[in-house]
Amino acid sequence: MTARGADWLARAEKTISAGLVYDWPNVPVEKAQGCRVWGTDGKVYIDFCSGMASVNTGHCHPRVVAAVKDQAEKLIHGPVGVLLYEPLVALAEELGGVTPEGLDQFFFLNSGSEAVEGAVKLARYVTGRPAVVSFVGGFHGRTMGAVALTTSKSKYRRHYEPLMGGVYNIPFPYCFRCPYGLQPKTCGTRCFDAVTRLFDNVVEPDEVAAFIIEPIMGEGGYAPAPRDYLGMLREVTSRHGIMLIFDEIQTGFGRTGRMFAADTFGVTPDIMTVAKGIASGMPLSAVVAGRDTMSRWTAGAHGTTFGGNPLSCAAARATLRVLEEENLLDNARAMGERAMTFLSALADRYPLVGDVRGEGLMIGIELVDQADGQAPNPKAVEAVLAECFAGGLILYPCGTYGQVIRFIPPLVVTARELDQGLSVLERAIAKVSAGGR
Ligand SMILES: Cc1ncc(COP(=O)(O)O)c(C=O)c1O
Repeated sequence: MTARGADWLARAEKTISAGLVYDWPNVPVEKAQGCRVWGTDGKVYIDFCSGMASVNTGHCHPRVVAAVKDQAEKLIHGPVGVLLYEPLVALAEELGGVTPEGLDQFFFLNSGSEAVEGAVKLARYVTGRPAVVSFVGGFHGRTMGAVALTTSKSKYRRHYEPLMGGVYNIPFPYCFRCPYGLQPKTCGTRCFDAVTRLFDNVVEPDEVAAFIIEPIMGEGGYAPAPRDYLGMLREVTSRHGIMLIFDEIQTGFGRTGRMFAADTFGVTPDIMTVAKGIASGMPLSAVVAGRDTMSRWTAGAHGTTFGGNPLSCAAARATLRVLEEENLLDNARAMGERAMTFLSALADRYPLVGDVRGEGLMIGIELVDQADGQAPNPKAVEAVLAECFAGGLILYPCGTYGQVIRFIPPLVVTARELDQGLSVLERAIAKVSAGGR
């Protein structure tokens, strides 16, 4: 670490809330481009954390940068409703061309948590019902309403009770840790019984406004919900007039190899929340719904000062063009398959690797106790991430116990960059395995 990098950290510790400044790996950086970041320690790192699955087009994509610069000279802020500007309208039109069929109206906000709270407000508003169901292990943000739906780690909720009322949790279909000890191919989706039990024992369906689910559970462990499960959820919610909300904040904008996980799984929700990858790192999010639903959310029922900011809209429009013109969805699928093949072979060779799963370039690598093959092994994850970092690769953990490594390169990653990152990861896994963790 150069004196300058160290100095930044010392200064940050004095002036910035610990909750914001302490995380992994907290590397002081000068700049970033594509899959790489330049540290003040003089090292160039491969970043396979992608700004927490946000810079899907890579850091500082030149077309995104140019769009933001250009827009900054014309209009930086509205707000929407007081001023109307073309980037907002054009973005909504263009997004409507890539969102799942029928989901073509947008309420723009700034962050993922805001979109989640907006979606819940919308569902309650149009159904007139109070209850919301989320899934144990899910992550939907940390603001007061969103954290009531978040159960990936209890520390996110500690000391904040009472949280928003009317929220019920049922288990997420996390197949590697199936509470019934069943196997996905033969289980008959037994875990879906939790929905029936919820309706029979806890809350009647006509009191439920919405179910909210991440099609691939993110922070809670990078676990894809089985396709059948999502189909069953679609059926039961439609039957009872309940809104199905897909939180696509992490799975959206090509991350799973299609534009949205809804496309990957072939299930269309009533409402979608999007953020992160939408604007390549500029703050923007949206509640997405069909005209029937959105038109019942009348003026003034919700609002925002910065949501749909012109700079973010310009970045989002450039992002959509880059995703399409650079064939990044195809690349995400191809590189995802390449990574999966490599990582599955690692799982065969190293008992430390308990499971490798995911879609496109959203892959989870779950590390387990080498002896019993099942117990979560967060200490090994910490050691592997530290080895990777020393080898110039930035990765980030997830899972309730920190037992999973997220593998989320930018969608612009080349085969060469991917292989470089994977070989650093393999060396780290080999070393930690040999150390007996
Ligand atoms: C699925 C999901 N929902 C919601 C959020 C919250 O987004 P934000 O941190 O922008 O509020 C996140 C953030 O990681 C997320 O992954």
